[in-house]
Amino acid sequence: MRQATRLPCVTMHNTIKIALVGTGMFGGDVHARAYADLQRGGLSPQLGRVGLDGWARDLAPIKFQLVVVAARTEKSARRARDNFKRWTGHAPKAFAGPKPWRDILREFPDLDVIAVATPDPLHAEVIVAALRAGVHVITEKPMCLDIAEADRIIELARARNLIVAVDMHKRYDPDHRRICEELKQRIGDPLYGTACLEEPLHVSTRTFKWAEQSDPFSYVGTHWVDLIYHYYRSKPVSLTAVGQKKRLIRDGINAYDAVQVRVDFANGMSISFHNNWITPPDFEGPVNQGHEIVGTEGKIESDQQYRGLRWWHAGGGSRTANNHFTRDVKRPDGSAAYIGYGIDSLTVGLAAICRLKFFGASRASVANIYPMAEEARITVAIVHAARIVRDLNFKYLRAGKGAPVTARFGRDGITIVDPYGAGAGKMFRRLYRKAI
Ligand SMILES: NC(=O)c1ccc[n+]([C@@H]2O[C@H](COP(=O)([O-])OP(=O)(O)OC[C@H]3O[C@@H](n4cnc5c(N)ncnc54)[C@H](O)[C@@H]3O)[C@@H](O)[C@H]2O)c1
Repeated sequence: MRQATRLPCVTMHNTIKIALVGTGMFGGDVHARAYADLQRGGLSPQLGRVGLDGWARDLAPIKFQLVVVAARTEKSARRARDNFKRWTGHAPKAFAGPKPWRDILREFPDLDVIAVATPDPLHAEVIVAALRAGVHVITEKPMCLDIAEADRIIELARARNLIVAVDMHKRYDPDHRRICEELKQRIGDPLYGTACLEEPLHVSTRTFKWAEQSDPFSYVGTHWVDLIYHYYRSKPVSLTAVGQKKRLIRDGINAYDAVQVRVDFANGMSISFHNNWITPPDFEGPVNQGHEIVGTEGKIESDQQYRGLRWWHAGGGSRTANNHFTRDVKRPDGSAAYIGYGIDSLTVGLAAICRLKFFGASRASVANIYPMAEEARITVAIVHAARIVRDLNFKYLRAGKGAPVTARFGRDGITIVDPYGAGAGKMFRRLYRKAI
């Protein structure tokens, strides 16, 4: 880590101003609670968890202020504002509407960060607007859904010297850090693996009004795609994907229940990603998740759902919890600090932003301390290609023609390979023309 050169400005205007756009299940809880703790104690209490304790003294004087919360409806923005006031005594300004970030960027020319926690299809527009206005970004995953959007975001961030940090918190799960730093070396060359994340039914049927505009792989498969890329830094060379629509359609929701994607990587490994958002409420944990990797010299199994804590009681069924993600840690005054790997990826992005703003650091000097847009681009490429392959295979499967469509990635970009397109001269459809 580079030694800090403390600039005089750190004691003068030492505040990072944040606007949170999207205050639903995730923004209104994980982001808002994390920013409430930052407002109270700054970033330094979190830094040791992510290996940045060497910056704790430098960053300690920096204050954080959530100046704005924004949602689609006034009711939801006001709820987020009131919650924040209850936690901190400070009420951020509440904005609502179809594009509230426009007013925010106009009214707060000194804003430092926009945190994006809008529905999946609505990340890119907010990110691009923020970057154009010279504002750093912490965004929920997936960074965007289209590879051309990813390029646009990267180009703008580089041109304006801004950070775009993507909330890929699985990298900070203590088990995954150990796998990445030590265990993956022990199992030799990776051969194949599986990664699953199965979400509860209420997410797609009740929480999300936007389930039809996303799918379980884009929504949560991205976590595992990022993690596997983070472990091995190997790019995709091909993929195939299928999906099923049987359960949600019963509730009038035209969205995939489940999606399975198999990606082959340049290092020869093949990883299958299995995702759904139809797990019945009777399941014992909030979500079911885990991954396995088989190598030439061994195997890693990581059950992210069942960490060994299980309980049951009359009328409550059998339950498990993942206390590593986020948990309340009681303070002497009775309030609770919010700690866990769910916060860690926000911490690293904000640490990078602080280095740029107060210590004259370059983007290059903080690269790789946070999940960068350049890395998220690989995940977006996979999500984008998988969506097209899955839809074509879905159509062919329904017609009794199997699932023969694949995508190929390479120096020439991304090509969708569709044997049934041959008749129309569309067997090879170039989706993207730049090197992956
Ligand atoms: N990192 C994780 O593990 C994790 C977990 C859950 C969700 N997420 C991601 O977080 C994002 C939000 O998910 P969620 O679960 O909070 O969804 P949600 O549907 O509960 O909340 C969406 C929020 O965005 C707001 N919104 C919708 N349209 C808007 C608009 N035009 N302008 C401003 N705000 C608008 C809504 O008012 C709401 O506050 C998604 O991208 C999702 O994939 C990440």
